[in-house]
Amino acid sequence: MLSRHLIDLDDLSIHDLHSILKLAHEIKERPGDYFGVCQNKILATLFYEPSTRTQMSFQTAMLRLGGQTIGFDNPMNSSVAKGENLKDTIKIVSGYADVIAVRNPQEGFAKAASLYSNCPIINAGDGGHLHPTQTLTDLTTLMEVKGDLNGLTIGLCGDLKFGRTVHSLIKTMCHFGAKFILISTKELTVPQYIKDIMDAAGCAYMEVTTLEEAMPMLDVLYMTRVQQERFSSLEEYERLKNVYVLDKRKMALGKKDLSVLHPLPRVDEIVPDVDEDSRAIYFDQAIYGMYARMSLIIHMLNDKNYYPVHFGKHYQAKCCNPRCVTQKETYLPSTFTDCGDMLICDYCDERTLI
Ligand code: NCD
Repeated sequence: MLSRHLIDLDDLSIHDLHSILKLAHEIKERPGDYFGVCQNKILATLFYEPSTRTQMSFQTAMLRLGGQTIGFDNPMNSSVAKGENLKDTIKIVSGYADVIAVRNPQEGFAKAASLYSNCPIINAGDGGHLHPTQTLTDLTTLMEVKGDLNGLTIGLCGDLKFGRTVHSLIKTMCHFGAKFILISTKELTVPQYIKDIMDAAGCAYMEVTTLEEAMPMLDVLYMTRVQQERFSSLEEYERLKNVYVLDKRKMALGKKDLSVLHPLPRVDEIVPDVDEDSRAIYFDQAIYGMYARMSLIIHMLNDKNYYPVHFGKHYQAKCCNPRCVTQKETYLPSTFTDCGDMLICDYCDERTLI
């Protein structure tokens, strides 16, 4: 099972990351040159949660490289409906495919899958935890429009608690000296572990509650949807869903070279009028995601080195996060990373005091 996996962008060195971004740019310039590079290779997309861009851009990426795709976008049409567990599904599919992109609502699902896979696993989103290939998409976009990733002031707005794209983006941009302006209500602020990562990296961050106060400071505004599916109370979702709405009036407060990104889908958080503003680049961003994934697939299939996914030590403890993959897949090794007075779950990053 010595495969290379992409569970978190921290699984890549900065050198690898630059290499993926560079190739993504080359593919964008000359896409035809790469047809056939993945001939006879098969990508499986196992999507247990809805998706338009991520799944289709993965599939298109593989088809444009001359490879083929298998998979499901509704687990109820697979043996999952009969009660098959993660371990068995992954063992079987990894015998059919050369690389697997998996999305699941449980946090840590892709990491757990890497334990049982005979081929590389790519995390295409694990609950409200991480979404590393969206970050590759975001970085590819920023390279195209800014030409450099260093020293940007990035505003992240909306659902910073459950927005997995936000968590992955912050983790990665900490390596590029970013300054973060976190624009959210107090209920939807970033998890503590993400704040700890910013602190450890020495990245400045500021928490504000209005878009108006943030706009003049930003090089990049990263808008997000309030993640309805992660709320336990519909009432709470209804109360918070439209707190931040980007409109022309707020855009007028932004710099001339501001770039507005959004992983999409958008609901009501950006009014359609804003689409006409040349600083709104979220539709281009979705296209860059296909080039980023073409580049990633090429790297994953050609790199013969094995980079182990980090797992700590076995403990008797149980992760206290109800959304953690270990709650349902109870046979998973109960491993944690010891962090002084806390145990950090190896799958979902939840901290438990000891
Ligand atoms: C995001 C996701 O699934 O996390 N979408 C995407 O992958 N492009 C954002 C979202 O669903 O709000």
